[in-house]
Amino acid sequence: MSSEHDHPQPGGAIYEPEAPIGEQLVVVAQELSDLYRSERAKAAELEQAYDQLQDTYQAAIRTLAFVVEAKDNGTRQHLDRTQIYGLELAAEIDPRLVRDPEVGVGFLLHDIGKVGVPESILTKPGPLTDDEWEIMRGHPLAGVRIVEPMQFLGEAVQIIRCHHERYDGSGYPEGMAGTGIPLAARIFAVVDSFDAMTSDRPYRKALTTEHALEEILRGEGTQFDPEVVRVFCDLVARTPWVAEGRYTDRAPD
Ligand SMILES: [Fe+2]
Ligand SMILES: [Fe+2]
Repeated sequence: MSSEHDHPQPGGAIYEPEAPIGEQLVVVAQELSDLYRSERAKAAELEQAYDQLQDTYQAAIRTLAFVVEAKDNGTRQHLDRTQIYGLELAAEIDPRLVRDPEVGVGFLLHDIGKVGVPESILTKPGPLTDDEWEIMRGHPLAGVRIVEPMQFLGEAVQIIRCHHERYDGSGYPEGMAGTGIPLAARIFAVVDSFDAMTSDRPYRKALTTEHALEEILRGEGTQFDPEVVRVFCDLVARTPWVAEGRYTDRAPD
């Protein structure tokens, strides 16, 4: 003769009415503990996979950036310095910018479009002809086209697109003006020019820090955002290795 106890009960032994409540709780606690351990193990695996993905992503971005170096010696140091110093300046102006990893990526990749510019133009020791300038001025949009399929780059694309725009609207590629230019690009324009001026280039020797700062100040309100220039000059004055002209000696990691 069958009884209700012949049928399997939901949840197995823990629902046996005969089992004392204390024992049932011990079983539940054991099951929860097992579940917690297995979830922790899964979370640790996911965390490890995420870290590996991040490392791979960073390495891929740096490789992409340094492709330009193969064509234009000295670019790697320029990229590393402008990324480090750009982030220091951005932190002074708006700390929210440096919380966004895309901004640092944009600084590193700003000239990626130069891979499409012939070496004869990139390393030309004299002034460029009009036609050569035309090609050179195409590098921001060429860069955008290269990185556009990487949808996770977000703000970085705007830095690549706008790093040669000028505050008075006379820059390229679009002639944006004032605060219409993304803030990260306005910040980067100052650091990029400062680094270019204080480095030897095929067509001229490096300027002194003092001379480069004079040039930056001369561009206040025309080439550069006056507020960014003010904070930059302040930062340089507080950073002895820059103020003393050792800017380009600093070995980036
Ligand atoms: Fe550029
Ligand atoms: Fe640059």
